[in-house]
Amino acid sequence: MAKIRIEGNRRLTGEITVSGAKNSAVALIPAAILCDEEVKISNVPNISDIDSLEEILKYLNASVIREKDIVTINSSSIKNKEIPEKMSQKLRASYYFMASLLGKYKHVEMYFPGGCTIGERPIDQTLKAYRALGATVTIEDNRYIVDAKELNGAKIYLDMPSVGATINTILASVKAKGKTIIENAAKEPEIVNVATFLNTMGAKIKGAGTNVITITGVDYLHKSFHEVIPDRIEAGTYVIIASLLGDNLTIKNLIPSHIEALTSKLIEAGVKMNIGDDYITISSGEKYKAVNIKTQPYPGFATDLQQPIIPFLTQCHGISTVEETIYENRFQNIYDTNRMGANIIIKTNRIAKIKGATPLQGKNVTATDLRGGASMLICGLIAEGITTIDNVKYILRGYDNICGKLSQIGAKIELI
Ligand code: EPU
Repeated sequence: MAKIRIEGNRRLTGEITVSGAKNSAVALIPAAILCDEEVKISNVPNISDIDSLEEILKYLNASVIREKDIVTINSSSIKNKEIPEKMSQKLRASYYFMASLLGKYKHVEMYFPGGCTIGERPIDQTLKAYRALGATVTIEDNRYIVDAKELNGAKIYLDMPSVGATINTILASVKAKGKTIIENAAKEPEIVNVATFLNTMGAKIKGAGTNVITITGVDYLHKSFHEVIPDRIEAGTYVIIASLLGDNLTIKNLIPSHIEALTSKLIEAGVKMNIGDDYITISSGEKYKAVNIKTQPYPGFATDLQQPIIPFLTQCHGISTVEETIYENRFQNIYDTNRMGANIIIKTNRIAKIKGATPLQGKNVTATDLRGGASMLICGLIAEGITTIDNVKYILRGYDNICGKLSQIGAKIELI
């Protein structure tokens, strides 16, 4: 099984380029099957979640060509087949196919999606939306059968601004009859990216990026070329690394406004950064002070950056508090972080207190999930000695060429 080996505590300098957003690309690819002509998507990250979606596309009989970061998909001969459980289980985003197939064929059968075990992750809001659009939903064990004579626009209020439920509702309603209104919609940039993609195919979606999204159904979606936005979580991860180890280190191809909740916290802790139009340059400082973090839906502090910022907080002087409001099980990285020398107490499964600054020592550790794995990797980069990370398949699901990119800026890191 692959591991990552890191010799820590090396200054990092030069430039690192952010890839396309995982959480955008994993929705754009299933969205592409709503189109009956060819679509091209560029800036697609080279991560294993995209390999898993490619496998599903091919299973559904779509033609897929991947050349560097461009994926060309032609769904004109697609078949509405049940996706095997082992394929659906590989990732959360597999359920975007359920929404697209429902939108296209008004009938879909699918297994429960997978994804990192960071909490319960129910999909009740998605099912509520399907029902509101006129579908019946039958649940048999971990399998769904969703069927509609026709899908009709409806007003849907989401109990929480769920990213997945917002995207699923858009995908299911884009070809429905009449107007669908999503209230309390999620506002993440990835949702704007998906809505723009569909609009370039001829869909009529307004309000993406606000909490009210209106979709007026259309009959046909035509060919399109679209670009994945930069990955704000990958960007944020490298900004955190630069705050700890950067020597005039530039993170390129990012949208600074997408990570403002992170950069303002780092600045509050004492990090000095030069923020350009699409880059941030950082040289790490001598002494940082503790800050408090509370995760929130966008534009609040991203839950996906909560685990990656923990190593930074171990190097801040004083007591930092982290409150995780989105997931109930997103502190699994803390056990190994403490083994490396941190002083973190989990007060409840939602609140952690980090007392710093504590030096970290290299250890054999485990990636418990994608962002938890990124957190351990950052610990390894700042620790004295050698850190080996197990279970790196999680990290490779979401970070494009992470060892190669970090090696180029001076890290001693390898996939073994
Ligand atoms: N929720 C419900 N019912 C629902 C939907 C959501 O109770 O029907 C709850 C969830 O349990 C969670 C919260 O609402 O507590 C937010 O869930 P959301 O639906 O917004 O998350 P998601 O769509 O499953 C996406 C990202 C996650 C990211 C979250 C929040 C993808 C593929 N995944 O998940 O990314 O943490 O939004 O920003 O887009 C990651 O990249 O590591 C990752 C986990």
